[in-house]
Amino acid sequence: MFKEIDHIGIAVEDIDATLEIYNEKFGMAVQYRETVESQGVEAVLLEVGGGHVELLRPLGPDTPVGKFIEKRGPGMHHVAYRVDDVQAELDKLKALGVELIDETPRIGIRNSTVAFVHPQSAGFVLTELVTPADDH
Ligand code: CO
Repeated sequence: MFKEIDHIGIAVEDIDATLEIYNEKFGMAVQYRETVESQGVEAVLLEVGGGHVELLRPLGPDTPVGKFIEKRGPGMHHVAYRVDDVQAELDKLKALGVELIDETPRIGIRNSTVAFVHPQSAGFVLTELVTPADDH
């Protein structure tokens, strides 16, 4: 079951320039910053209520977020929903005919467990399922 919105992912070209807006002007605290080589991004998590804004800067043009920016420009990239068990959700959605990008979960930022649903099956919005690591 989708329990709540965990975060909104935003593709950016310059994290520090974007932090001037979200951190300094909007007042959202920076909770975490990490470079995830395996996903080709530098990511920053900002706090807003019980959820987050996730800024994603591609490490290069040939990464998924780099290709996204090249095709569509910077901006809204994905919506992530918190679930208890990513694999169980994937299995359920697959059985319902939902097109998945990941059939098995992978490790996301802050050691979360994540998987992506294809935009075609989600109102043309890239959709992430996420279970935070136990210590978060
Ligand atoms: Co995300």
